[in-house]
Amino acid sequence: MNIAVIGTGYVGLVSGTCFADSGNKVTCVDINEEKIDQLKEGQIPIYEPGLETLFSRGQREGRLHFTTEIEGAVKEADIVFLCLPTPPGGDGQADLTAVMKVADQLGSLIDDYTVIVNKSTVPVGTGDRVHKAIAENLDESLFDVVSNPEFLREGAAVDDFMYPERVVIGTSSEKAAEIMTTLYEPFVRSGNPIIVMDRRSSELTKYAANAMLATKITFMNEIANICEKVGANVDNVRRGVGTDSRIGKRFLFAGIGYGGSCFPKDVQAIHYTARQNGYDFRIIDSVMKVNESQKISIVEKMEDYYGTDDFSGKTFGMWGLSFKPETDDIREAPALYIADELVKRGAKLLAYDPEAISTFKRATNQQVLDNTTFVHDQKEALDDIDALVICTEWNEFRRPTVDNFADEMKQPVIFDGRNLYDLDRAEKAGITYISVGRPAVN
Ligand code: UGA
Repeated sequence: MNIAVIGTGYVGLVSGTCFADSGNKVTCVDINEEKIDQLKEGQIPIYEPGLETLFSRGQREGRLHFTTEIEGAVKEADIVFLCLPTPPGGDGQADLTAVMKVADQLGSLIDDYTVIVNKSTVPVGTGDRVHKAIAENLDESLFDVVSNPEFLREGAAVDDFMYPERVVIGTSSEKAAEIMTTLYEPFVRSGNPIIVMDRRSSELTKYAANAMLATKITFMNEIANICEKVGANVDNVRRGVGTDSRIGKRFLFAGIGYGGSCFPKDVQAIHYTARQNGYDFRIIDSVMKVNESQKISIVEKMEDYYGTDDFSGKTFGMWGLSFKPETDDIREAPALYIADELVKRGAKLLAYDPEAISTFKRATNQQVLDNTTFVHDQKEALDDIDALVICTEWNEFRRPTVDNFADEMKQPVIFDGRNLYDLDRAEKAGITYISVGRPAVN
């Protein structure tokens, strides 16, 4: 099939590359000339395991192309994917400017029947708006607008795309459903379902999935907070409840709150959609509030430990800045909030992250920059500090194991927002270890 992908951000690039790998001819379009030039040269602007191999193969074998010319790409295409940014607008609703700008052009660019697919996360009813915009300039028999939300995780996007647990297709047109099913069949050979439904349900499915996952995490964060009060251990509770297949083992890890570019934005957006339609989505309201306080709960533990909220004269090491491992993405990362709170209390920081130092520097404020030294080795962040704060569960932080901290730190005190270490080993190692939802080791 001939595919045009409009927008070469994270979703567009991964989708385009993976569609090309399954034998389609894909043309990726972007208005950013510099980015397109770099992509043509084989430079990928994002870090995603496995992407480079598929990308170079697609380019080498002539199935993956890049252009700034939307006309040619759309005219040739059987399917046009819209993978455009939908950032949160001021009111908590996704901003559809980019999507609608392209939708307005599409009608006059199409000659033969074409399926237009919305892959961006968009509010319920966006498909209707896109349809209407195209129909201004094109006969309705010549196109269908389909919703096809993506469920990729950063850091595992290629695998998630190549082996999806399900593909959701939102359309009431049989013709469009058949074309989309044919496109996705190679990805679900293992028998995972392609679920065809109406467009609005499909649009809502994406928000419901992210909101439910955010709720699951937040629920466990609250259980962790209760564990701390009653002297229980959230690891045990997690194992106890997660083995019930109705609950499931995944996304039950307590920590310092969810972050990233998706959960916070989508949770806010579904709350807004509900309110706009006269429904008060109370669970989600609580999820947002709990997550805000969970992000800085570790700072409160530090205050309790030191018996003061004045951290002047103290230096804390920070391990991990990105919102999760295997990415340099710091959007809504707990580390941003924690660094800010610690510096406001007078602390100095020694921060390390394997990938996210530059992105963190760009996103944080001047006060944090003025009081933080960034180091490029995890051990350097232990030099002469009063305590270590762990914000992201990078694998390399698991490796040194608790056994070594007592030798390498002036004060072996660790505040762990990601529960990396075993409590018995921490105790044997003679360190002070304060984590989330587990008894403190002193
Ligand atoms: C998330 C969803 O998992 C994807 O299915 C979805 O496609 C994507 O959003 C999106 O809408 O584009 P992502 O934001 O990349 O993917 O990251 P996740 O791996 O889901 O983690 C999100 C946050 O939850 C992270 O801050 C992580 O630390 C936190 N988390 C996750 C926990 O605190 N505990 C857990 O048990 C799992």
